[in-house]
Amino acid sequence: MVAREFTFVVCIWTVCAAGHEFFSSTDQIAQLVEKKKDLLTSFSQYIDAEEKNIAKMKSVYLNLLLSYSDPVNHEKIMRDPVAAYKHLRQLRDELINIVNHIRPSFYQCNEYQDELDFLEIPQPEDIDGAALGLIRLQEIYKLYPEDIMKEMALSADEAYHVGLVAYNEDKFQHAFLWFLYSLDTLTEYSAITEKKLLQSLISSAYYFGSLSVAIYLNQQLLNIDPTNDEVRAQLNRLLYSHRTSNADIFTLNTESSKYERLCRGEVDERTSRRQRALSCRYSTGGGNPRLMYAPVKEEVEWDEPLIIRYHDIISDTEIEILKNISIPQLSRSKVYQDGWSAVSQHRVSQSVFLQDDPLSARVSQRIADATGLSIETAEPLLVQNYGIGGRFEPHYDALETGENDRIATFLIYMSDVEIGGATVFPGIGVAVQPVKGSAVFWYNLYKNGELDLNAYHAGCPVLLGNKWVANKWIHEFGQEFRRPCSLSEWE
Ligand SMILES: *[C@@H]1O[C@H](CO)[C@@H](O)[C@H](O)[C@H]1NC(C)=O
Repeated sequence: MVAREFTFVVCIWTVCAAGHEFFSSTDQIAQLVEKKKDLLTSFSQYIDAEEKNIAKMKSVYLNLLLSYSDPVNHEKIMRDPVAAYKHLRQLRDELINIVNHIRPSFYQCNEYQDELDFLEIPQPEDIDGAALGLIRLQEIYKLYPEDIMKEMALSADEAYHVGLVAYNEDKFQHAFLWFLYSLDTLTEYSAITEKKLLQSLISSAYYFGSLSVAIYLNQQLLNIDPTNDEVRAQLNRLLYSHRTSNADIFTLNTESSKYERLCRGEVDERTSRRQRALSCRYSTGGGNPRLMYAPVKEEVEWDEPLIIRYHDIISDTEIEILKNISIPQLSRSKVYQDGWSAVSQHRVSQSVFLQDDPLSARVSQRIADATGLSIETAEPLLVQNYGIGGRFEPHYDALETGENDRIATFLIYMSDVEIGGATVFPGIGVAVQPVKGSAVFWYNLYKNGELDLNAYHAGCPVLLGNKWVANKWIHEFGQEFRRPCSLSEWE
């Protein structure tokens, strides 16, 4: 079809550029009549091509329309990381499909063209990032591909892509398990082939150190591709390889840190007798007039260091407004490394500092009232949303800058999380679950200004749900009369 358009354009060009005096030669006129005939033919061919193009566009459009008429609740789908991954991929393919079908036409509708120019198509890096989120979930929660696909399954091609991402990150066992799943779900419509999958499985097994599995699979590959000399040569190399390890590639048995075990709920000191002795009470912030008639519900989640939960600190409507203000401004959260802030795999979320916003000012005042601390020197409220496999690996909030450090953290949960997403303190073995409308508060520094090593904490990856939090980091300056310094080493 491109060639036909070309003919059409060339014809016009010939007519225009020839520059003959037609009036002085009947032969020239005869030629022109011939040219007009040619032109009409290519014009008609062009119309045919455009008609076919229109028909194709119509069918693409109708198909896309069908996929949108499903009465789906997007928020509900996106709370499942597997569904979110699947949708992101599909969306990319569909958007590219639309754009590709617009391009060949000469006809341009300006408004539509503008929309296309501003269209942000998810990039391959976005899809890879989503796959990496799934892999990180698997690692922390020790999940097999089958376990992670609770509500929605991935196709063989999608699973193959997740495997490739794992492979490129040198996570050979996870890659192997995804390739295996892909092989199990392979259909005649899959783009990926059995041969290619077997080859990927062999490489993953080999690099993982599972030589016997690699050899077995290489035999299988040779059975279905007996004339392939490269496969035969590879089998010989494997047979004479000295990589001697018989690691079991089928069983997820990765070493776990305390952080990971806390996230999985395998340990939680709070269930012990010590926790039951802790209290729940209404507090007026030591006689704060603003709290006399509306005391805050305070619960001690842990005693040393003190972790306090404030219940019903923010209403559902306030949460909705904060989310609405934040959504258009969200961008990938950063971490401080060597004095610089940078994007990191350790912190996967999007966030925004809300400056000069009346509601966040009101929420901040409530934080000051509840904790009795000054928020004059605090950072603006930081609203955060966690994406696929979103998490914040163990860290201290204090920046150890020497002066006016983050003395305390007030963390508001703006959503419940169905599975995962706990705030965990590996040093003391405590996991705090997100409860919408509540907040937890703890000190990062001792009264003497030293870092409290037990304030080390993490945000576990979200396995099912959409996690929203808002953070207030309270600083040292201004607290001199509220939380007097201490010379003691012990508080
Ligand atoms: C938040 O935004 C949604 C969608 O635009 C809207 O329906 C809702 O009314 C907004 N909520 C508030 C409290 O402003």
